[in-house]
Amino acid sequence: MNQFVARSSALRGLLVNEARRHYVSPAQSSASVLMRLVEVPPAGTAKAEQIKRFNAASFGGSGWSRMMSTSSSSSSSALAEKENGEKEKPAEAESKSGGGAESTVPVVSSYWGIARPKIVREDGTEWPWNCFMPWETYRSDTSIDLSKHHLPTTFLDKVAYRTVKILRIPTDIFFQRRYGCRAMMLETVAAVPGMVGGMLLHLRSLRKFQPSGGWIKALLEEAENERMHLMTMVELVQPKWYERALVLAVQGVFFNAYFLLYMISPKLGHRVVGYLEEEAIHSYTEYLKDIKEGKIENVPAPAIAIDYWRLPKDATLEDVIVVIRADEAHHRDVNHFASDIHYQGKELREAPAPVGYH
Ligand SMILES: [Fe+2]
Ligand SMILES: [Fe+2]
Repeated sequence: MNQFVARSSALRGLLVNEARRHYVSPAQSSASVLMRLVEVPPAGTAKAEQIKRFNAASFGGSGWSRMMSTSSSSSSSALAEKENGEKEKPAEAESKSGGGAESTVPVVSSYWGIARPKIVREDGTEWPWNCFMPWETYRSDTSIDLSKHHLPTTFLDKVAYRTVKILRIPTDIFFQRRYGCRAMMLETVAAVPGMVGGMLLHLRSLRKFQPSGGWIKALLEEAENERMHLMTMVELVQPKWYERALVLAVQGVFFNAYFLLYMISPKLGHRVVGYLEEEAIHSYTEYLKDIKEGKIENVPAPAIAIDYWRLPKDATLEDVIVVIRADEAHHRDVNHFASDIHYQGKELREAPAPVGYH
């Protein structure tokens, strides 16, 4: 018993210290965060009583422990949060349109669980998503210049540009003007390079005992942002079985091809992605054109998109495409910049990464 309590105490100490060290960052956060350690022993047992006494001593008598608490007034949709109350309750598995939790069945932990606190919006309604949190949402900068184009002057740039133009041919033939379907399929590919680049930089940082200059985070942010594009598009277009099969095949080929390319020449890899993003801007502009001309119905925006991009409640598909296109323009800038750094004979870590560039 004493051993259990001692171990529990040591782990708690570690967790509290880690949380304090890493998460208290008032400038970055846009919402308060609560974490709760859930003890498993049945109520009334000696072990449960011992843990209760431990909690009382450590956290002022509350079963809840406010390990992290930051706030910012900059977020206009600053989201409040509520404690769940005394009774243990797993994270709510509410999913209004497919983007929330996967299951309503509570997970039983073998020794302890970490329950997510109930999070609510400013208006008091419950935060329905588990796949992203309020402090990860943002308002897209749609004033970004969409017409920027990196002129391919060097041999490698021309290879990158031609490669992307060639890749567009089968895409145009297969999808033609079915832009919803096209966007959904292309987002499954677009979310790969950031993850591959971020992963390889992460491994490099470990191998060389060097910081990354923020580039790991910037590239992983890009991958996550692209994945959210996909989560949004899939609310609008349901993939057919042969499209799912195509995604499998394309992902298998593209992941490995980009992995190899990034290991051999990150300069070329980022340039290819920069041009892919330019093409994405073009595709979304055509998509918008079809919406404005009434060829594609301007349906209400999916709930996941309204929360992720902090759109008004009456936002439409057109609003969603506008913010996604702005995201693509930001990815274009990030990747052309990354390639430029390599062109100047430097490593990415030598130039501060545009973290949080939306
Ligand atoms: Fe995208
Ligand atoms: Fe993109």
